Amino acid sequence: MCAASDNPFVRPQEPRFRPPRELTRERAREQMERLGEAIMHHDHCYYVLDDPVVSDGLYDRLLARLQELEQAWPELVLADSPTQRVSGSVAASLPEVEHVAPMLSLASSTDAEAVREFDARVRKGLDVEGVVYVAEPKFDGLSIEIVYRDGLFERAATRGDGTRGEDVTDNVRTIRSLPMRLLGDRDQAPTLLAVRGEVLIPLAGFHAMNRARLERGQDLFANPRNAAAGAIRQLDSAVAARRPLDVFFYDLLQSQGARAPATHWETLAWLRSMGLKVTDRIRRCDGVEEAIIYHSSLQSDRQDLPYEIDGVVIKVDRRDQQRALGARSRNPRWAIAHKFAPREEVTRVEDIALQVGRTGIIVPVALLTPVEVGGVTISRASLHNYEQVRDKDIRPGDTVRVHRAGDVIPYVVARVDDRVDSERPAPFEMPAACPVCGSHVERDGAYFVCTGGIACPAQLNGAIEHWASRHALDIEGLGTKTVRQLTEAGRVTDSVADLYRLQVEQLLPLELFGEVKARNLIDAIEASKKTTLGRFIYALGIRHVGEHVAEVLAREFGDLGALMDASEERLLEVKEVGPQVSHNVCEFFAERRNLRVVKELLALGVAPLAEQLGEQVFKGEKFVITGSLSGLSRPEISGLLERLGARVTSSVSAKTDFVIVGESPGSKATKARDLGVRILSEPELMELLRERGVGPGRVRGERD
Ligand code: IVH
Repeated sequence: MCAASDNPFVRPQEPRFRPPRELTRERAREQMERLGEAIMHHDHCYYVLDDPVVSDGLYDRLLARLQELEQAWPELVLADSPTQRVSGSVAASLPEVEHVAPMLSLASSTDAEAVREFDARVRKGLDVEGVVYVAEPKFDGLSIEIVYRDGLFERAATRGDGTRGEDVTDNVRTIRSLPMRLLGDRDQAPTLLAVRGEVLIPLAGFHAMNRARLERGQDLFANPRNAAAGAIRQLDSAVAARRPLDVFFYDLLQSQGARAPATHWETLAWLRSMGLKVTDRIRRCDGVEEAIIYHSSLQSDRQDLPYEIDGVVIKVDRRDQQRALGARSRNPRWAIAHKFAPREEVTRVEDIALQVGRTGIIVPVALLTPVEVGGVTISRASLHNYEQVRDKDIRPGDTVRVHRAGDVIPYVVARVDDRVDSERPAPFEMPAACPVCGSHVERDGAYFVCTGGIACPAQLNGAIEHWASRHALDIEGLGTKTVRQLTEAGRVTDSVADLYRLQVEQLLPLELFGEVKARNLIDAIEASKKTTLGRFIYALGIRHVGEHVAEVLAREFGDLGALMDASEERLLEVKEVGPQVSHNVCEFFAERRNLRVVKELLALGVAPLAEQLGEQVFKGEKFVITGSLSGLSRPEISGLLERLGARVTSSVSAKTDFVIVGESPGSKATKARDLGVRILSEPELMELLRERGVGPGRVRGERD
């Protein structure tokens, strides 16, 4: 599509920009329009065609330029600007809406015979010898109706009961492969286009998301479909925006003001030409046997697809024939889902082992008699957590059904065993002590967690990475790879305290280290000894004690000894501390292994000191923070402002003194503008801090 080829910003060359204020309003408007068009073009190339023309860096600069101009001329911001994908406001609920046309469901079968019978019914119904079908992947996601009016994205709704669904427009708008404006001339666009597609999360993004959740100790998503459905039904579109959602279209629900093609095959091509994402894994089949063959070839390719599919949908190609066949109750007579056989097998549980994850969660794992499931031999399967083992009543020796989806860890679906209880070992119980370090095991909801925290070797890598992370002790040069090398080479064996015993000579033989890097790391470790109490508490990695709570505790108790001595009741008195946090803090310091490590750290010279309250330069002033910030984190900025006497609140009113806007600010920024509240970008906030005499050291959280 290079309709925008006279647009300088679609080319891979680096443009030169003048400061916004040197532009006339007219020039700015023109440039904003050009930038918007170019970014939409690049989004289409990247997210839909998978064929980017510009580097990520250049793309980011175009977007930053557009944001800069939009900030300078907020009244010129276009509704479909690429910067407006996140709404910025949180909805109270998802309103119900009526679909433009009913969203039917499909009859389905795993059996080829049932597909042949479907074909016989179709031919009989149409009174013809042969029928042309289109066979396409059956995406395993969430069905969605999307409406474009005069070429502009207007609304998205879930399927609901087929007639009415939930309005999820704000969340769907965050899907980057979804065009906000259809390609081609605005006046040629259909006046109304209602299409149906499937929202999904590709496997790579799904695994990355679950890895990150595992590291943060959050519950994992069971599968990409649940993760996608959860994102689409969010009340806060900023959450949806962080999920790697994608969308494929496969059905035209209705169009007005344009002539839709006569066949489904051409319809899909038409949708594609308007910029909508349509899979190219579709096949036009002369007769049902070709569609059945396509089913087996797609089934063998299933492993290699970047997203989950669970079968093939076979549709009559001619739309007049579709109409003639019509629908029976909720299912069209012109289509059928030919599902794949489930990837499940039956085998025996030899034993139940316990695995301690990086965050201390203890997961029961079934050790299986090896069995082949969908071409892969498996000998271990996750049992997830204690409750699931008890609910499914799995015990060693049981015969079970196991399931493997894509490259997700296989799991035990159910027991299929006819032995009576007296023939089986006692029900499964979780241990009272961590199988790796012997620390006391605590229950946290469905999970059992080792309280060994910073002292448990199974959690060592995770604990060190967290200790060194930017908002904890901020030790530069101690990322995942380096940490792994230090522990694998036995330089750090017991706990984070070992870091403070490292010497340059011990690092030199290691692959990742040269003289300079080794010296820098030792210096960075040394420098981290001088830290604030808040960072230190956060770095301990106590479950549910995030940065903000750590700051609150530091301010309340003033020194580490007082916090260590505090009872649960005392902790509960602290505003913003609930029963879970107070319990976890007490448990943490009650575990003697943790106490030993904390004592070692102090003896090695780590000195967490409470910040002295400086001058209250913002006393009584009210701040609101919106959008994502790149320098300091939100809790850091609010902690800092509060220490300087300010109040940080969540909603903008006429009483607000300052609104700090980060990237992709939401409606709060608009409201601030309307109310005439002073808006500060991150650099402007730093400038203000300097003006008020707050030094850079204090901003970084160092002691005065
Ligand atoms: S066509 C009237 N095509 O499968 C026909 N559906 O049980 C409308 N699905 O709820 C559906 N991939 O969410 C169609 N290529 C595809 C599909 C597809 C996935 C889903 C859809 C529907 C379910 C049918």
